[in-house]
Amino acid sequence: MVEPSAPILIFDSGVGGLTVLAELRKVLPDAPVIYVADRAALPYGDKSEAEIAARVCGLLGRLAERYHPRLICIACNTASTIALGMVRDVLETPVVGTVPAIKPAAELSKTGVIGLLGTKATIRQTYVDNLEAEFATGKSLLRHAAPELVGAAEDKLRGVAPDPAIFAKAAEGLRSQPGGEKIDTVVLACTHFPLLAEELGAAFGGQVNFVDGAQGIARRIAYLTQGQSFDRQGDDFAIVTGNDSDNPALLEALRHYGIGRIQRL
Ligand code: DGL
Repeated sequence: MVEPSAPILIFDSGVGGLTVLAELRKVLPDAPVIYVADRAALPYGDKSEAEIAARVCGLLGRLAERYHPRLICIACNTASTIALGMVRDVLETPVVGTVPAIKPAAELSKTGVIGLLGTKATIRQTYVDNLEAEFATGKSLLRHAAPELVGAAEDKLRGVAPDPAIFAKAAEGLRSQPGGEKIDTVVLACTHFPLLAEELGAAFGGQVNFVDGAQGIARRIAYLTQGQSFDRQGDDFAIVTGNDSDNPALLEALRHYGIGRIQRL
């Protein structure tokens, strides 16, 4: 039997996983959560597959041993598309990943031209090739790596206004590809990016729909924990690696997601 106080562990390299946490709160408001931001290794998207896999497997192993979560959510497309299989192989805890929402985007697109914004590491994964082959046959999927958006989201959450040129560059990176003018749907294939939906919407001139996986992941977690009881005693806490754990602007932002304190690993 799962202890009612056993947490759901939500893991990302930074604040991106909060977009998943926000959806999870809507479906499971009583679930105790530990939010983990691996700030010491941010950005994952600029690292090699081997580095990301070793980092994520090692860290999640330590965290699972220490906190006995009922479920782990890797709320990071980069880590999931690279290491989800490995993490599942080494842990007994159920693990839910976050993969680019190509399927719903393909269903939504009328022009058949879909854009995908992700990190450098995500857009080169065969995991993405496979999703494209399975769900977007007969459509065109244009990919663009927009690593600057990760830092922009981190800044925005700490109350620092990001440079608008970053958003124009991301939109241009898709629009300038052959067929890019026909894009009507954009997959936000990094959990940081929905935090910038407003800025990205303006950069695309309000002419595209954005799709991300957060709602689907929250539903999947609710499904996998069906029948379990939850006992959430007040605010949750976050674990932040590196030297940002006592950043007051970060704590202030986390409070909006029901997280009352930050602790170091
Ligand atoms: N939030 C992560 C993702 O979904 C990536 C950010 C990073 O590069 O660390 O891919």
